[in-house]
Amino acid sequence: MSYKETLLDPIKIGTRECKNRFFVQAMECTDADADGNPTDLTYQRYENLYKGGWGLIDLEAISITQESRSRLAQLMIMEKNVPALTNFMKKLKEVNKDPLIVFQLTHSGELSNPKFSRRVTVMPSYSYGGDLLSEEEVDKIIDDFVLAAKIAHDVGADGIDMKLCHGYLGSQILRPFNSRKWKYGGSWENRRRFAFDLYERIAKEVNDKNFLIGSKISAWEGFPGGFGTEGPDSPILDLTEPLDLIKGLEERGAQYIVQSAGSPSITVTLTQAEKNYPYIAYLHPYFQKEFKKVLKPETVLIGSNYSVWGNGNKNLQMIDPKDNTMFKVGSHNIERGIVDMIGLGRQSFADPLLPKKLADGNEKDIHFCTLCDNCLELLIRQEHIGCCTYNKYYTNVLVNVRKEKGKLTQNHT
Ligand SMILES: Cc1cc2nc3c(=O)[nH]c(=O)nc-3n(C[C@H](O)[C@H](O)[C@H](O)COP(=O)(O)O)c2cc1C
Repeated sequence: MSYKETLLDPIKIGTRECKNRFFVQAMECTDADADGNPTDLTYQRYENLYKGGWGLIDLEAISITQESRSRLAQLMIMEKNVPALTNFMKKLKEVNKDPLIVFQLTHSGELSNPKFSRRVTVMPSYSYGGDLLSEEEVDKIIDDFVLAAKIAHDVGADGIDMKLCHGYLGSQILRPFNSRKWKYGGSWENRRRFAFDLYERIAKEVNDKNFLIGSKISAWEGFPGGFGTEGPDSPILDLTEPLDLIKGLEERGAQYIVQSAGSPSITVTLTQAEKNYPYIAYLHPYFQKEFKKVLKPETVLIGSNYSVWGNGNKNLQMIDPKDNTMFKVGSHNIERGIVDMIGLGRQSFADPLLPKKLADGNEKDIHFCTLCDNCLELLIRQEHIGCCTYNKYYTNVLVNVRKEKGKLTQNHT
């Protein structure tokens, strides 16, 4: 099969069908209104993705409560957001009925910003403080997640991505570092309880076989005691717990898993390989291969870190230099059976119409991500986020914020 045929081949996910193998990674863009509702700018971004005909879209991290936000203009999903989210979904489905969309439900935990949220922690770390969560508070957070899943279902989403990655609450609980002896910590059985209980409750209470459930997982956070390490004070990679986690999620109804790595506030280049250190892209297929080995064939595995290959990255080498492209590497990994879909984050900013252009034979018109990472700078600065290279609106946002506030000094929280 040609790479085009492989990438445009439909795939079943649960009872549903993705029209192709392109997955839009969840990408926070901090452009919600004061109530956490989508604005015209939010809508425009997703409208473009719908026009682009992606197989599956992950709606950016949407906060399940007011106090669990890491960014001021983050989307929120509570009762008060139902009318706006219903309208948002209705309009998008009218643009193109084909793409499926899952909402990435999140609680920021220790990454909640104390300026406008409540910073909480399962186990205080050197980097972050926060109020120590009690068992009752975590039980309540589970209730909030279940309610958010029901809302996602009722407003017309096709499913949810129960966020368990990148250092937000879902992954903080899983870490070996969470060695505190409590219902949700210490032994692996206790640390995985939060995720497993949540899945069981959501499956039971949403109770719709056509509603997709899955999670994005950081296979290895890459610092001592992070998820995917061998112990609370060791950085050594050990996939025993991540593999047990994804098998357990599958048993509890997960129809798809998104493989990721790292925790961007600490190990950002592990999450998204960058221009100067693109080699991390060689590590991700290893996680994909190990994940795929333990999952049932019908569970869809989505891989990360494909943007960095672009339309040929001379700093990355496959055996034949002409194969150093996102399309070739992605289709090769699909054909080898190590992954089912390829996730694109920064590339989805650079060209929201990518799948359509490929399908229509307009590959030469695709804008490839330049890995400038100015979108990341906008995220850190909590400005409206998008592609500063190909979209003038965001170029201006960047120019203006640099003029107003000077060079970036803050870290990646
Ligand atoms: C501006 C920006 C926002 C992001 N927002 C999210 C998010 O909401 N949820 C998430 O899981 N990952 C988020 N990420 C990480 C991406 O989804 C993705 O995992 C990472 O960028 C690697 O993919 P890429 O190399 O294709 O960009 C974000 C990354 C960037 C640069």
